[in-house]
Amino acid sequence: MAQIVVTRPLVDGALKGLTPPHSVEIGPQPTGSELSEEALIERIGTASAVVTTVADPVTERVLSSCPNLEMVAQYAVGLDNVDLDAASREGITVTHTPGVLTEATADFTWALLLAVARRVVDADAFVRSGKFERWETRTLLGMELHGKTLGVVGMGRIGSAVARRALGFGMNVIFYNRTPANPTIIRETSSRQVDLDTLLRTSDVVSLHCPHNDDSHHLLRDALLINTARGPVIHERDLVDALRAGRIAGAGLDVFEDEPDVHPGLLEHERVVLAPHLASATVEARTRMGQMCVESLLAHFSGENVPHTARSQQ
Ligand code: GLV
Repeated sequence: MAQIVVTRPLVDGALKGLTPPHSVEIGPQPTGSELSEEALIERIGTASAVVTTVADPVTERVLSSCPNLEMVAQYAVGLDNVDLDAASREGITVTHTPGVLTEATADFTWALLLAVARRVVDADAFVRSGKFERWETRTLLGMELHGKTLGVVGMGRIGSAVARRALGFGMNVIFYNRTPANPTIIRETSSRQVDLDTLLRTSDVVSLHCPHNDDSHHLLRDALLINTARGPVIHERDLVDALRAGRIAGAGLDVFEDEPDVHPGLLEHERVVLAPHLASATVEARTRMGQMCVESLLAHFSGENVPHTARSQQ
């Protein structure tokens, strides 16, 4: 029997199947922005496994301070908050949830893209504040997407799902990827692989779907931008400058450089639509993410090959 800690409540049904003899302890919703290392160490205590989220600092200190920890099941695809090298040194297995949040994230990317291009949030505020007095020819003009070019940075699972949706909007798709992309995806999305400079020069909308690493840190400086990947891929201060200078027409941001803080210049800019890291937030995706954690945990504790390990997916 294993003691498994879940750092905070998940959606109903996410942990279905995690039954006795395993004991499951679900922590309360943290009240501050995120758990501190100390709070996480205390929460894990003597447990042999922990289900973590992107807001939990799974650092070397945490991993080496929890004496019985054998496994970290990350309830996310991204592992930015997990020190994978330290986990491997400590012999701790790390799993994550790739694949099951692809469509939800692609949908939300389009939600932001449309909201920015057609000023949906401004429009809502306009009506609510009583400014809608008559039909006008120039009120809240946006950008038409048909015939425009979408530049996808990172043509993996999510980037490809975003590109597929672009066909329905009559957009041309170009993409940048560090490695040659799968020919089937290129055919399905009628897209073209280009270098990053060409992408930035010729895209009407740039959507980021690359992981955050040394190569992608502060990758972009100016373009019309949608980011549902990771905050530090963008230099937020430069983005604010570019927006203020009018070099960027708008931005839709679900992730931030220093979450949960948001640069004040973004908060005050009217052509920016902001969301609190919501891209995978559908009941369906969040339930499947939990079920992937459960599959990994049950396999680990019954001595089987553990699916969805971080190493095998990187
Ligand atoms: C969310 O950001 C995730 O990585 O799953």
